[in-house]
Amino acid sequence: MIHFSDVSFHYPLRDAIIRNLSFQIHPGEYLAIVGTNGIGKSTVAKLMNGLLQPTEGEVRYKDYCTSNEQQLGMIREKIGMVFQNPENQIVASTVFEDMAFGLQNICLPPDEISARVMQTLERVNMLDYIDADVNSLSGGQKQRIAIASILAVEPEVIIFDESTSMLDPEGKEQVLGLIRELNQKGITIISITHDMEELAEASRIIVLDQGRIGYDGTPAKLFEEEYKAIPGLAAPFIVHTRDALRSRGIPLPSTIFCMEDLVEHLWKLH
Ligand SMILES: Nc1ncnc2c1ncn2[C@@H]1O[C@H](COP(=O)(O)OP(=O)(O)OP(=O)(O)O)[C@@H](O)[C@H]1O
Ligand SMILES: [Mg+2]
Repeated sequence: MIHFSDVSFHYPLRDAIIRNLSFQIHPGEYLAIVGTNGIGKSTVAKLMNGLLQPTEGEVRYKDYCTSNEQQLGMIREKIGMVFQNPENQIVASTVFEDMAFGLQNICLPPDEISARVMQTLERVNMLDYIDADVNSLSGGQKQRIAIASILAVEPEVIIFDESTSMLDPEGKEQVLGLIRELNQKGITIISITHDMEELAEASRIIVLDQGRIGYDGTPAKLFEEEYKAIPGLAAPFIVHTRDALRSRGIPLPSTIFCMEDLVEHLWKLH
């Protein structure tokens, strides 16, 4: 659905950040992209929806190419992006006006705008706040409004660029719950994250390393063994606990990487 074909990229007068990168993202996936600070994760995200153009190679969404200016509007409607800081995504004072802004941009009639705003606020459980001042909301609520603004445009893919990293635990849980639900309803999710615990949610993980793909596969396989060979990748707390217990002779499978699994196995030990 999203195709990177031999993509290289460098910012003007800078060294290459992405080198000959080729991969595909399939409909319905929950893909997590990880890698150390400054490795190029946000750059890859911006290449996906045409905010940046490859220096070499091609990025396509279905049959549309990000280098074709006439197709860019369509690509950006279908691939929404939620950023890190909820404050930077607010464009108007009330929740209704903020959400209506994106829909006015795609030239919908006022009736349709009102209907879509109400439907999507309902979906993110924020309908009660339709007339609220966006600035009065919590970080988690602001991120849910940012997600609602994108959902209202009916995207097929949503990219989250560290969208939970500035939230408190409750806000983070709400946003992660919403992301999971959207994925279950068929929206393709791409989540850039430093949060190793969040990775257990993903169906696929890509680790970026030196402009290339250092790992591409399931979280289970990554955290069974391969994570040890990837520099700068801190494994989740559960994986460390598992390895520490195993090294002390406690018979736990090396495939455990989430809390429920660990608890379930510990429970069965005699
Ligand atoms: N507009 C720009 N002009 C020049 N260099 C840039 C620009 N934006 C990013 N860079 C550089 O490109 C590299 C990759 O940046 P990018 O933001 O994609 O990394 P990242 O993996 O998202 O990092 P982080 O984990 O900190 O968010 C970094 O070295 C960064 O300093
Ligand atoms: Mg980034």
